[in-house]
This record gives sequence, structure tokens and C-alpha cells, in this order.
Amino acid sequence: MQKPAPTNFPVHDLIRHRWSPRAFAEKPVEPSVLASLFEAARWAPSSSNEQPWAYLVAMKDEKENFAKTLGVLVEFNAGWAKEAPVLMIAVSRLNFQNGTPNRNAFYDTGAATALLSVEATARGLAVHQMAGFDPAKAKQVFEIPEDWEPIAAIAIGYPGDPSSLPQKLHDREVAPRTRKPLSEFVMSGRWGHTSLIVSQ
Ligand SMILES: Cc1cc2nc3c(=O)[nH]c(=O)nc-3n(C[C@H](O)[C@H](O)[C@H](O)COP(=O)(O)O)c2cc1C
Repeated sequence: MQKPAPTNFPVHDLIRHRWSPRAFAEKPVEPSVLASLFEAARWAPSSSNEQPWAYLVAMKDEKENFAKTLGVLVEFNAGWAKEAPVLMIAVSRLNFQNGTPNRNAFYDTGAATALLSVEATARGLAVHQMAGFDPAKAKQVFEIPEDWEPIAAIAIGYPGDPSSLPQKLHDREVAPRTRKPLSEFVMSGRWGHTSLIVSQ
């Protein structure tokens, strides 16, 4: 299923077609295709070129690793994400190499994952990020070092048939996509003053 964004201004097709499904096809993802997604993440910009991100990946056929990753998700997410062929945890390094705090670490990790998502879209794959997981448990089970923080869980796979989902999730899957208007977040001159670029 595709779910292109109903945009008010034209955007690149890859942006329009990226979305976060919960239904995944059974088709596995080739490791070489996944490698391209990480290559896209690798070339994201970051503060001081620190590249403060890491991804813990689990393919479905790695039974123990996959179960371990599934086990850190909240119940709601585990319910649908168990069908995805790939699960990951995105992790951010909180300090620069020199030990000073990197206040942009989360921002940069998000940027890397955004590029990964666009690369995935270009390859017919879908990426569904999740805040609904237990970061403390992830830190423990994956032996993540003290100055790294798990940020998001991620499901990746080829989009599947929405009718494979339970009714409630099916309804959310096929519901229209919505966004705030540009006038709410593009400002100019002072906080809350909509930029003329988007106000007409
Ligand atoms: C950081 C982050 C956390 C999210 N957490 C969850 C989650 O725990 N469970 C879920 O089903 N979707 C989650 N989502 C997906 C969002 O609900 C989704 O991106 C949003 O509704 C917009 O839909 P779209 O990505 O299809 O455009 C998350 C997305 C992001 C970026």
C-alpha cells in the first residue's frame, strides 16, 4: 500500500511517499540493501562531524537477536513490529570525543535516520520509528556504554497488506495523513509571527 502525502506545495516524490506503516510484507530485506540504508545515514550532516549515532540491527532470521530487540518494545509496538523483517535500536553518543556534552546528538541521530528513511523509500522499503520502547532495558540487554543513549526503535520492511492488521490498527493504517499547516511553524522576525513565505 502507498499513502502519498497530500502536500500544499510540491515536494520530491521520495518525501511524499515516505510513511510509517504497521503492516509489513513477509519478504526479507537483503543485507546489501540494508547496507545502503546505513550508507545514507552515514552521510548525514552532524555537529562537528561527530556522527554520534549507532544502530543495533536484528534480522528476523537471527532468532535470538530479533527476540531480544522485540523484547524491549512496549506491548503495543511489539504487537505489529514482530512481523517486520528488520528491527533496530538507534543510539546516540551524548558526549563529544573530548568528553564535553553534545547537545545536538539526538538531533544528528534523527537527521541520520531521516536520510536512512529516504533511502529506504527509494528502494520500496518502509521505516517505522518508535519511541515506545524501554531505553533502560535496551541499555542493559545490548550492553550499551554509559555515555550512549537509546533514542528510538525502528522497524523496516516492505509495506504489507493493511488487512493483515487487527481492526483498530487497520483503521489507523488507512486513515488520511494529517499535518499542521506551514503557517504554524514557519515564523519570521519574532516568535509566533508567521513568515510571509507561507502566510499567503
Ligand atoms: C521518534 C518517533 C517515535 C515514534 N513512536 C512511535 C511508536 O512508538 N509507535 C508507533 O506506532 N508509531 C510511532 N511513530 C510513528 C509516528 O506516529 C508517525 O511518524 C506519525 O504519525 C506520522 O506518520 P507518517 O510517518 O506515516 O507520516 C514514531 C515516529 C517517530 C519519528
